[in-house]
Amino acid sequence: MSIEAFHQDILQGIPKVIPAKKEYELSINHAPKRKAILSRDEKKLALRNALRYFPKEQHAELIEDFLNELETYGRIYMLRYRPDYTMFARPINEYPGKSEQAKAIMLMIQNNLDYAVAQHPHELITYGGNGAVFQNWIQYRLSMKYLAEMTDEQTLAMYSGHPMGLFPSHKEAPRVVVTNGMMIPNYSKPDDWEKFNALGVTQYGQMTAGSFMYIGPQGIVHGTTITVLNAARKISKANETIKGKLFLTAGLGGMSGAQPKAGNIAGCISVTAEVNPKAANTRYSQGWVDVLIDDLDELCNRVRIAKEKQEVVSIAFIGNIVDVWEKFDKENIFVDLGSDQTSLHNPWAGGYYPVGISFEEANEMMANNPDLFKEKVQATLRLHAAAVNKHTAKGTYFFDYGNAFLLEASRAGADVMAANGIDFKYPSYVQDILGPMCFDYGFGPFRWVCASGKPEDLAKTDEIACAVLEEMKKRSPEEIQQQMADNIQWIKGAQENKLVVGSQARILYADAEGRMLIAEAFNKAIEKGEIGPVVLGRDHHDVSGTDSPYRETSNIYDGSRFTADMAIQNVIGDSFRGATWVSIHNGGGVGWGEVINGGFGMLLDGTKEADRRLKMMLHWDVNNGISRRSWARNEGAIFAIKRAMEMEPNLKITVPELVEDALVDGVFEKASV
Ligand SMILES: NC(=O)c1ccc[n+]([C@@H]2O[C@H](COP(=O)([O-])OP(=O)(O)OC[C@H]3O[C@@H](n4cnc5c(N)ncnc54)[C@H](O)[C@@H]3O)[C@@H](O)[C@H]2O)c1
Repeated sequence: MSIEAFHQDILQGIPKVIPAKKEYELSINHAPKRKAILSRDEKKLALRNALRYFPKEQHAELIEDFLNELETYGRIYMLRYRPDYTMFARPINEYPGKSEQAKAIMLMIQNNLDYAVAQHPHELITYGGNGAVFQNWIQYRLSMKYLAEMTDEQTLAMYSGHPMGLFPSHKEAPRVVVTNGMMIPNYSKPDDWEKFNALGVTQYGQMTAGSFMYIGPQGIVHGTTITVLNAARKISKANETIKGKLFLTAGLGGMSGAQPKAGNIAGCISVTAEVNPKAANTRYSQGWVDVLIDDLDELCNRVRIAKEKQEVVSIAFIGNIVDVWEKFDKENIFVDLGSDQTSLHNPWAGGYYPVGISFEEANEMMANNPDLFKEKVQATLRLHAAAVNKHTAKGTYFFDYGNAFLLEASRAGADVMAANGIDFKYPSYVQDILGPMCFDYGFGPFRWVCASGKPEDLAKTDEIACAVLEEMKKRSPEEIQQQMADNIQWIKGAQENKLVVGSQARILYADAEGRMLIAEAFNKAIEKGEIGPVVLGRDHHDVSGTDSPYRETSNIYDGSRFTADMAIQNVIGDSFRGATWVSIHNGGGVGWGEVINGGFGMLLDGTKEADRRLKMMLHWDVNNGISRRSWARNEGAIFAIKRAMEMEPNLKITVPELVEDALVDGVFEKASV
């Protein structure tokens, strides 16, 4: 399609003439049929809600089609309105519009729906099974039209994918404010999502999907590499390295697909089980996993060879993870590191597949017999935990990968509770690794996208970022030397590791100072014409963006981990400090009702205004979380916030006084209570 035709398609918004129905393409990975949850009256309401986007005279023609979608898929996606042009992040100057900032947002939206990036592109799901960019194709079309028409003195308000409209604002305001799945707290159970999403009034934005900041599995490779590396460091004896160690896990989906690649970069042997052959084949064809095996005996043989030769190799097993844990136990194959990245934040709708039945059978049961499906999932979780327990008894280090594995296993009655009956037997990766080693010091998944779409721009930004970090490392305190070294090694190997899927994007863990200095250097390079504009962002899975008691804030021990003030403060603070767009979500990662998370996007265009904004916003975006972590008495964060105050005299933070344990314990004995 020519650029002119592409522009016209965007500017028309909702087509005047109803387009022909589209064929259901079997080659595309589709979302599973959603649970039928609406009553007859609620179905009528869902239809009224869908039809309010269209002129009255079209209702009669559309209503049957929409009812058919609701009955067939459990949702109204308005599939016939899916555009005919190829979906991918075009260079920024190929978008229609009056605002460069709005064009950057269009680019990011299209990247999140690119077939190479999105998990279920036709259902507008980017990752995580439910992580939606929009609820339906009309919301997409309308939003793109608004973005193409808006000026820098307007802001688009988006309610869970629905573009409410353009409101007058000002140049320093965000161009888009996104809220996803924000519910009155008592209406935030998983079935509430099923119901209100089917009604078309809310959506699950996951983390970066509903904020247009997902950049493919690369975004997570870095974090996973850091996690696997540090997990191995934790269990290694002196003079031992990660070489020859076996990492067993599950999931080759959106984020989990990064595990084999991360295993290779960290330098170990990894086995990743995946029940969906399509997902496994996708990762294999992208070169993200080295070997595909669907036979358990063959898998054992291959692992034995890899161990003997101390290979760096990633193996995908097409099948259920529970079978692998059990088989390795029987065959006495020692697993050094174990985890799981099935989508247990979404256990009843395709996130976790029961053992003993085929993938197809499971999909059928999920839609037609959800109660039995739930029973099977819970029975599988009990087997899963029992098999893991056998391995940990032999010395395996197992950690929860923030996918609610331990939470759901405990709910299923599996043996995963610690002796005190409150905590889990195993730590989460944030409690043991990412929290104390990274987040408390401000290190988190900073990322950028080169809006020119040019690989050479990405290469230049890699060089710039590396030079900044190397300079910083020379004067960094001992406490963060290891993180700096890991991040420099990452950025040096980034090109060689061929991580780009979709837009020309890069992820790099960096602290507040690192993010600001790198962004400032990019902005200067843009001003000099060395590179085109750059979109900055981050995962919500970060220092300050997310309140999630079993994940990002699981290493907060002052009782405040069940509060969500930090995430809300963060997104409000970002929005008046210069973010181009902000978003705040319920759900994401660990499940609906279990987390509040937020993020931002920021366009760097080489101007002085961009320089001012980046400094002000990135400083807050990281230090907000450090201050909260410091107030919770986290040692690394107390160190980091004191250092931040030395660097910025206008930063004045309340630092906690530490109370002696003996005093607190003793007071009860004295008072005999
Ligand atoms: N990578 C990270 O850094 C990170 C961090 C925090 C949380 N997580 C969590 O990891 C989970 C996975 O994320 P995703 O984007 O990859 O989700 P996804 O749904 O795209 O992928 C999960 C994959 O697991 C497979 N699967 C389900 N049950 C299985 C089973 N029993 N055996 C083998 N395979 C099975 C599914 O077929 C699917 O492909 C999410 O809950 C996410 O929140 C990941």
